[in-house]
Amino acid sequence: MQRILDQIWALLTEGAHAGAERSPFTMVQIATLGLDGAPRVRTVVLRQVNRDQRTVTFHTDVRSEKVAELKKDPRIAMVACDLDAGLQIRLEGIARIVDRGERRDAVWNASRPRTLILYRAPLPPGTSIEAPSDAHVPPESDDVERNAGIENFCLVDIEVSKIDYLDLSPSGHVRVRFIRDADSWRGVWIAP
Ligand SMILES: Cc1cc2nc3c(=O)[nH]c(=O)nc-3n(C[C@H](O)[C@H](O)[C@H](O)COP(=O)(O)O)c2cc1C
Repeated sequence: MQRILDQIWALLTEGAHAGAERSPFTMVQIATLGLDGAPRVRTVVLRQVNRDQRTVTFHTDVRSEKVAELKKDPRIAMVACDLDAGLQIRLEGIARIVDRGERRDAVWNASRPRTLILYRAPLPPGTSIEAPSDAHVPPESDDVERNAGIENFCLVDIEVSKIDYLDLSPSGHVRVRFIRDADSWRGVWIAP
């Protein structure tokens, strides 16, 4: 079981640092409770993984609906899947929105300008528009102030409390659930 726990964190860490290579654990799906109580799910890029603090992190726009949802109810779930390996990793936890401070600013400063353009969009994500061109953001130019849009940029840390691992490969057929106790993970085998 310890080997599986190590594998889970290694796969997630690899996903967050895959760069141009990408791994099946780079693009993940996160689910929240909508403001109306209905489930909502969307794809995000896994950006940081910290096993010691048992957090995984993605970046988003503070104006997006998911942030409003998480402010109302911070419970969050994530799923990612390696189709070739027949592996699924599901996480559950509590989201913390980091919308200011040194850590947020350092990530902004280290990000490629191309990835920051969206945060400079004048219209909040989710705004109804007449045509796609209404939401067009001009490409990055040299005269854009480096910090323009930073107020819209946040990190979302998921503090993980439950992990569900499923290996459906021909040699696998193993499912384990890990629950976080005071300061360690307690694993139980589960029928797949
Ligand atoms: C490949 C891919 C990667 C994405 N990565 C992110 C991301 O890292 N952060 C983010 O906020 N949205 C990302 N999105 C967009 C979201 O899936 C979603 O459409 C958007 O954030 C609005 O979601 P919301 O209305 O539920 O807040 C990505 C979409 C795709 C297709």
